[in-house]
Amino acid sequence: MSQKFKKPPLVPQVTTLWDYPSQHYGDIVQGDANYRGATPSYIIWNLLQRYTKPGALVIDPMCGSGTTLDVARDLERRALGYDVNPTRKDIFRVDARKLPLEDEKADFVFIDPPYSTHLDYSDDPRCVGKLSARDGSYYEAMREVIGEIHRVLRPDRYMGLYVSDSFEKGKGFYPIGFELFGILKEFFTPVDIISVIRHNKTLEMGNYRRAADEGNFFLRGFNYLFIMHKAPTSSEKQKSVKKASRPEGQVKQASRHQRPNDSRPRHANVDSEHADERRKPFGDRDRKRAGENLSQHKKRPDQAQHRQKKKRFRKD
Ligand SMILES: C[S@@+](CC[C@H](N)C(=O)[O-])C[C@H]1O[C@@H](n2cnc3c(N)ncnc32)[C@H](O)[C@@H]1O
Repeated sequence: MSQKFKKPPLVPQVTTLWDYPSQHYGDIVQGDANYRGATPSYIIWNLLQRYTKPGALVIDPMCGSGTTLDVARDLERRALGYDVNPTRKDIFRVDARKLPLEDEKADFVFIDPPYSTHLDYSDDPRCVGKLSARDGSYYEAMREVIGEIHRVLRPDRYMGLYVSDSFEKGKGFYPIGFELFGILKEFFTPVDIISVIRHNKTLEMGNYRRAADEGNFFLRGFNYLFIMHKAPTSSEKQKSVKKASRPEGQVKQASRHQRPNDSRPRHANVDSEHADERRKPFGDRDRKRAGENLSQHKKRPDQAQHRQKKKRFRKD
């Protein structure tokens, strides 16, 4: 008799190789289980745990089935989702190349764009999934999207882009990950590159595997997750220098950067209450919400044990 698959507990990923055997964590579904091209929710959970605090404003410019919105709310972050083909009421119909958000409002941006033409998402002509990596039009559009992400992200904050390379039989291989990383680097500083193991059903299907073997090509076994940082503005750098030399309590407000001559409607009133706070990694409250056994994490080796372990590790 077949046993029901039991999901392992959701724990923080600590290496640059990420893996979790389910599309969703916990007993509920984040996003839509039937949406083709949805992001595995544990990826967004890990990013938000590491790089944001409760109350932070999270943006997903290509929100698809809304996985980012559900994970953000699960962790008590605020979230705004955009897409040219909204699948639910809390996603705004917007082209990611023109986000209706003021400059420097977001505390974190996550994006899982189409990987050029690998899936047909909608009939909307603005969908970047209709653009070719071969003629470069896909990269031009993604440069605009990445520029918008940079514009709406607060200085000294992080963003994550999840993407796969593409191989099309008869057309060739497109290193979409490398190309997008090159564009990201024009705007941001790289923090890390994560390789995420794909568990797509097609990878297990005999006919797909046979075709790859006989046709001398490879199936996509991993996705890239690029984690990038937006530089603090020079005025922020100065502010932190001044703050360090100023007596406590005399903290000056920084003026906000406004773009002139821009009449686009904006999602106002989304200021973070936590703008100057850095996320303390993995609070107990967040773990509890994700259904994890807290006692495992509370038991810490005492200092002496810890030092011994460190020594042993060095010898290895
Ligand atoms: C890989 S899916 C996103 C999946 C999503 N993270 C989820 O978990 O459901 C890519 C999405 O990008 C959207 N998209 C494509 N071009 C867009 C554009 N120019 N502006 C906004 N969204 C776009 C598509 O409609 C699709 O929903």
